[in-house]
Amino acid sequence: MTDILASLYPWTKSLHVISVISWMAGLFYLPRLFVYHTEKVGNNDETHALFQMMEQKLLRLIMNPAMIATWIFGLMLVFTPGIVDWSSVWPWVKAVMVIVMTWFHHWLGLRRKELIKGTCTVTGKQFRLMNEVPTVLMIIIVVMVIARPF
Ligand code: HEM
Repeated sequence: MTDILASLYPWTKSLHVISVISWMAGLFYLPRLFVYHTEKVGNNDETHALFQMMEQKLLRLIMNPAMIATWIFGLMLVFTPGIVDWSSVWPWVKAVMVIVMTWFHHWLGLRRKELIKGTCTVTGKQFRLMNEVPTVLMIIIVVMVIARPF
């Protein structure tokens, strides 16, 4: 099994990075849609339905599959022999950041359901602030996996 993972390594890493890019695109865009949904749509039913459709498609068709693919290929890399040295600090920092990223994804999913029901209490300003979360996490993760400062 470990031999197969070792021979697949360049392909697994390519697929990991491709799925990460797709996941991140959604994590950057969905809170931005929520800002406009909260601030600009008001009681206009037609625009409300349009935003709901865009948010649902982004989450279901792009973000959920991309998150699952990122985890699958990332875990395949973890089990590839000689790739991760767990005595270093960087894989642990990356692991925590990735868990926070996954929490953020689910947080957005819950807010989407509330926006449909009209029970969302998060303001546009708060969504703008939350929009920075994936940026900060992405910077830390990329520095951890590439520069590996510790
Ligand atoms: C979801 C769980 C994740 C796991 C289990 C995981 C695990 C890994 C592992 C083990 C590697 C291999 C490192 C190497 O080849 O030396 C890797 C590479 C990489 N990961 Fe992840 N990762 C995950 C999520 C992410 C996320 C969310 C990002 C970006 C925001 C990311 C960005 C990268 C990048 C850019 C590389 C390539 C680094 C290089 O050039 O060697 N990963 N990942």
